[in-house]
Amino acid sequence: MALQSDVDDAEPLDGDFARAVLTGLGEDAKNIPCQFLYDARGSELFEEITRLEEYYPTRTEIALLEACGSEIAALAGPGRAVVEFGSGSSRKTHILLDCLDDPAAYIPIDISHDALGEAAARLKQSYPGLAVHPLHADFNQGLELPARYGACPKLGFFPGSTIGNFTLDAAAEFLADAGDVLGANSDFLVGADLRKDLDILLPAYDDRQGVTSAFILNLIHRINRELGGDLDIGGFKHQAVYNDRLGRIEIYIISLVDQVVEIMGRRFALAGGERIHIENSHKYTVAQFQAMARDAGWASEHVWTDRRDYFSLHYLRRNGG
Ligand code: AVI
Repeated sequence: MALQSDVDDAEPLDGDFARAVLTGLGEDAKNIPCQFLYDARGSELFEEITRLEEYYPTRTEIALLEACGSEIAALAGPGRAVVEFGSGSSRKTHILLDCLDDPAAYIPIDISHDALGEAAARLKQSYPGLAVHPLHADFNQGLELPARYGACPKLGFFPGSTIGNFTLDAAAEFLADAGDVLGANSDFLVGADLRKDLDILLPAYDDRQGVTSAFILNLIHRINRELGGDLDIGGFKHQAVYNDRLGRIEIYIISLVDQVVEIMGRRFALAGGERIHIENSHKYTVAQFQAMARDAGWASEHVWTDRRDYFSLHYLRRNGG
């Protein structure tokens, strides 16, 4: 039986998928936001991606966290409440909690109720003395931390280069908003993927086994399952391209034929070759990321990168406290 834990619901999230699909497919540049990739099957497939040989970010970031744990602990000091944005399976959390000196609490925030409850329950088992307070919320839509931790200094944690999935404007806004949520005297540890050669970058988003393709095309299954769509999975494929001007991988679902699909009684025409934009994954330079953080009110205390400069881990401190 899956472990579950008490989860605080900050806001109702139902109905968002239907709205996003009907709106996004009705636009001239068709799109479905990438947050909807993560239903139960999508989350499983993403976990599989993180173990692929081609997908370097997860293993590189884990190695970095393990290598710099004592330096992170020294910067953070004792008694911080760790607030993880988009905690998912909380795999990297163990590494952080193990290195910190006497963390006061762990507050994971995630859009997936089930993943959050299970991860929080597992953490409670591993750290029986630690206060764990899961928060079910979309951290992009404004949230407040539980008042009981108001006096603790916070350490925000946003690993995995999930920030790369935001547009540059949204990433800057997120960093500024996170500063408000975390409050005075807060620090923030953020993972950001770096620019690199396309022969490394492209296979990470188009692997030989087709796991990334299954992850992206799971959206088609999800539309059929949850919204009663009549989409034929054979009529679509996934595509990953690098946009050099914007410094990002862009992921699309492409319609292979001219077709009309029906979803919740609405019909959408797709031309053969027409693309549905699903995801962006920005690749930063260290200086670019630090400048963005600075403009959002965070000073860079330290940055760690791996030997090959594939990935960066930024330790930020909120200006003015
Ligand atoms: C979650 N996020 C950081 C992943 C990435 O690398 O942008 C999502 C992903 N999409 C396809 N593969 C991985």
